[in-house]
Amino acid sequence: MNPKSKRIITAVVTLAMICSTASAVPGFAEDIQTDSDIIFATGFEDGEGIEKFSGRGENEVLTVTDEVVYSGSSAMCVSERVKSWNGPQLRLDDICEPGTEYMVSACVKSQWYSQINLSMQYTDSEGTTHYSNVKTISGDQWAVFKDVKVSFTSDMTDVYVYFEASDANTKMYVDDFELKAAPSIPIEQNIPSLSSVYSDYFKIGTAITPSNMSSKPFMDLVKKHFSSSITLGNEMKPDSMLNKAASLSYLDETGDDTNPQVTLSAAKSVLDYCRDNNISVRGHCLVWHSQTPDWFFKENYSDDGEWVSKEKMTQRMENYIKNVFELVEKEYPTVDFYAWDVVNEAWTDDGKPRTAGSNNTRSGNSAWVQIYGDNSFIEYAFKFARMYAPKNCELFYNDYNEYMPQKTQAICDMAEDLKGKGYIDGIGMQAHLDVGFPTASAFEKALSKFAATGLDVQITELDITTSDKTEAGLQKQAQVYSDIMDAAVKYADNISAVVLWGVTDDLSWRADRIPLLFDSDFKAKPAFYSIVDGLEVPDVTTAESTVTQLSVTTTSATASEPAVTTTVSAAEPENTQTSVTPIRIYGDLNNDSVVELTDLTLMSLYVLGDIKLDEETLKYADVTDDTKVNLADLSHLKQYICMEKVILGPQN
Ligand code: XIL
Repeated sequence: MNPKSKRIITAVVTLAMICSTASAVPGFAEDIQTDSDIIFATGFEDGEGIEKFSGRGENEVLTVTDEVVYSGSSAMCVSERVKSWNGPQLRLDDICEPGTEYMVSACVKSQWYSQINLSMQYTDSEGTTHYSNVKTISGDQWAVFKDVKVSFTSDMTDVYVYFEASDANTKMYVDDFELKAAPSIPIEQNIPSLSSVYSDYFKIGTAITPSNMSSKPFMDLVKKHFSSSITLGNEMKPDSMLNKAASLSYLDETGDDTNPQVTLSAAKSVLDYCRDNNISVRGHCLVWHSQTPDWFFKENYSDDGEWVSKEKMTQRMENYIKNVFELVEKEYPTVDFYAWDVVNEAWTDDGKPRTAGSNNTRSGNSAWVQIYGDNSFIEYAFKFARMYAPKNCELFYNDYNEYMPQKTQAICDMAEDLKGKGYIDGIGMQAHLDVGFPTASAFEKALSKFAATGLDVQITELDITTSDKTEAGLQKQAQVYSDIMDAAVKYADNISAVVLWGVTDDLSWRADRIPLLFDSDFKAKPAFYSIVDGLEVPDVTTAESTVTQLSVTTTSATASEPAVTTTVSAAEPENTQTSVTPIRIYGDLNNDSVVELTDLTLMSLYVLGDIKLDEETLKYADVTDDTKVNLADLSHLKQYICMEKVILGPQN
């Protein structure tokens, strides 16, 4: 990390310590939501609203109780459950719109200790019913589900939100249920775009899933920061693309059980978005031990059939890979699939093949190893991918814990061999990291070894967890992000893309340890600032942002590099029908209509002489209204953010 990044982090830590309770100033962002956004809410007083719920099985009895309540004098009691999935459900698609984001809140209690899930059910366009756990809380006390985001798309029917409890026999109680439209919070326009900041080095991308697309602010962040590469979080994995019904029909009609049929139905909404917005896609992934159904490896495509022979599996693999590439080309001829993960996670941390067996029976086992006896399936996969992939598509091996020395070595040995045969183009480092492990230097060591193979390297799934959610924890996370991105920049000549595994913490696959660059309110975290600092930032001019309002100039120097002057020009969205006109208020340096720590950080950097501010921003930074911006303004702004009663601007 360069000294500039450290200085920013120090400034933020210091300010956070002075003002540890400060968050957004009440009265601005929090006021966006109104009662009119509530679709349905009930505390079940006098039984009100209970008729909207039904039991998921035939057996549950839903009654009003005054014996176990969270608030008021009534709650809903669900008795006569006999299965863990039994519980109350509320149908969404007759009261909510597809493609819109909603939030569910409820207090749910089981009679005795249980794991309570808030889940969703829907039927897809092919008639298959899907279930997904959205949030889980365990215990025997009231589980408070607060503003849990849910959404569905227009091709889904029979959409329900429901609660279930792992103990099949426990009674369940529900109180204070609320369903409301999620607020459309404007994203911060006056921060640099990550894709633009890194455009001289490599693509910056992210992974998204169809449900993310219902959130306008989420997609605004995708468009602003990650528009050079999208990975589908789950929808192009074998379990999404393999079509069992069509494969069985094909077998029935032809007698051929070596030609698994594929579908892009799960990927459609995201791929349509990439096509319409001209965004390149990383295909993820063709051959993997996980998220692949057992029937793919079994005689007659039967879940409990015999494992097929190596010869038959090689034919199935070839046809699967061929069918995927052909279908993608047929349905999305204009989408640039610039890379594909051909094989994912085949080596263990000690550089060995996985244990043979079904991953669906025992997590971590590999059905590929079961059939081939070793990792020889990898070469077949790359050979077939090379045969059927378009010429401009790079073929990758992708893995996690890639910095574990024996795994690094196994990957390098495999890659050298495949490179010699002309089958492989790159190595993907997933980079699912934690602030405590590995060290950035251990990560860099692996990166240097992969780069030394002469193959392209991509960081494919970057996220960095922290269990410490205090300001200090966020700063530590920022430091590690900065160190990892510094390593990436150092090896930029060998790296063509860095892809984050998600956008906002709350929707991450590791949400409980907030591993991403944006928080659940779509605000950039310290980690974001730590990785944009010290880099050349081109002007941000997109269809959505044309008016330059804030420019920040920084000067940095490191021991080995000459001083660099960096100009950050950020822009404000044009006032379209869908965008909210931002209100500029005193103290709001980054012009996002909220006065908070970020503004204090910007002001402190200005006062320290580290950045320059344009005239307009200086006007709003002058919170003491004495025509200067100095320590007095910093102190005044700090008092305001710490909830002390001071007025910002002219009447102070
Ligand atoms: C994860 C998804 O993000 C989750 O939604 C899913 O439940 C499990 O898989 N390595 C990979 C990714 O290659 O495909 C995984 O994605 C994360 C680890």
